[in-house]
Amino acid sequence: MVETTITVIKADIGSLAGHVVVPDFLLEIARKSLKEAVEKGIINDFYVTHAGDDLELIMTHHKGELSEEVHRLAWDTFMRGTKEAREKKIYAAGQDILSDTFSGNVKGMGPGSAEMTIEERKSEPIAIFCADKTEPGAFNLPLFRIYADPFNTAGLVIDPNLHDGFIFVIQDIHEQTPAYLQMKCPEEMYDLLALIGSTGKYVIKKIYRHDGLVTAAVSTDKLHQIAGKYIGKDDPVAIVRAHSGLPAMGEVLEAFTLPHLVSGWMRGSHAGPLLPVPLRDSKCTRFDGPPRVIGLGFQVSNGMLLGPVDLFDDVAFDITRRRGMEAAEYLRRHGPFMPHRLHSEDMEYTTLPSVLKKVAARFSEEEIVPTGKAKDTSDSAE
Ligand code: 13P
Ligand code: 13P
Ligand code: MG
Ligand code: MG
Repeated sequence: MVETTITVIKADIGSLAGHVVVPDFLLEIARKSLKEAVEKGIINDFYVTHAGDDLELIMTHHKGELSEEVHRLAWDTFMRGTKEAREKKIYAAGQDILSDTFSGNVKGMGPGSAEMTIEERKSEPIAIFCADKTEPGAFNLPLFRIYADPFNTAGLVIDPNLHDGFIFVIQDIHEQTPAYLQMKCPEEMYDLLALIGSTGKYVIKKIYRHDGLVTAAVSTDKLHQIAGKYIGKDDPVAIVRAHSGLPAMGEVLEAFTLPHLVSGWMRGSHAGPLLPVPLRDSKCTRFDGPPRVIGLGFQVSNGMLLGPVDLFDDVAFDITRRRGMEAAEYLRRHGPFMPHRLHSEDMEYTTLPSVLKKVAARFSEEEIVPTGKAKDTSDSAE
């Protein structure tokens, strides 16, 4: 049986008029580059798109995960695009390119990647989710709901194939060296939630069915850990397989009906709702957001991609978007106050510490009382 690898590699290499949207010429450069790679036999098929200001390369091939050839192709494509973006003085050109030289794969170099190697089933429906203005932990909640919440996924109750549950691979992304942990659900559900509720630290990396069939993969690359400072948000991607002994596509999409709060938005420093949007709304405007996610459905067929269908391009998600915007409106009224602005721990890599450093020396052990004589203003006219 031939195995097919689905590889999604993404990077923000520059955007139009701020962090809004990938310009068309970058999408064209990427399409040209991947088309050449199909002709050379490096990949089988591809689809190029964008989530806001992030360029997304969706590829299928038979080279396996972490293939040097496939990762180099993505890297070279981003380098080509960056060169052009710099020449055209596009905003934040080369934003996520954090190294000058390629060394085997894109891990630790800026771009994010999610990969999955599958034996194609009789029919292989998949969804690719690409988010902008947020971090990898944004997928924790919907993925938990898809694979572990019977109020979301009817199949967990109705389909005996799902009764033995799923295995979640969690990554502690605070650790410099990768630290992974496996947890079985439903057996370890409460322990699992204790971890993945901390979305900035414990991130779902992969999910397998109880019998080892791989079903979900997420990009967990942390830009600030690579750069040591704030560059932009990670803006993650996820690959999800559906149907035939797995949650149905409708159950997968149901998990995105709560516009849940995620970290990111303006300057990567604010909590905001994750809006599921169609491709035409895949651009971030208000307060550089709100954070949003696109969903593309494909059939993987003999190593090729049929599709896509724009999964959130449906009136069924209007209510979610409206609720999301009500939450956004409410949160924005808090301005610079927490919890709209993130906790200081999450601001460690932003530009806030340099502001705080400026005033640090002015703290004293004694409470300071301003000097000067207060005027009697009791007779002033009101
Ligand atoms: P259809 O009968 O339309 O194939 O739907 C089956 C199903 O299980 C939907 O989730
Ligand atoms: P991106 O990570 O999408 O580039 O956004 C950066 C930012 O600071 C938005 O305000
Ligand atoms: Mg950007
Ligand atoms: Mg982005």
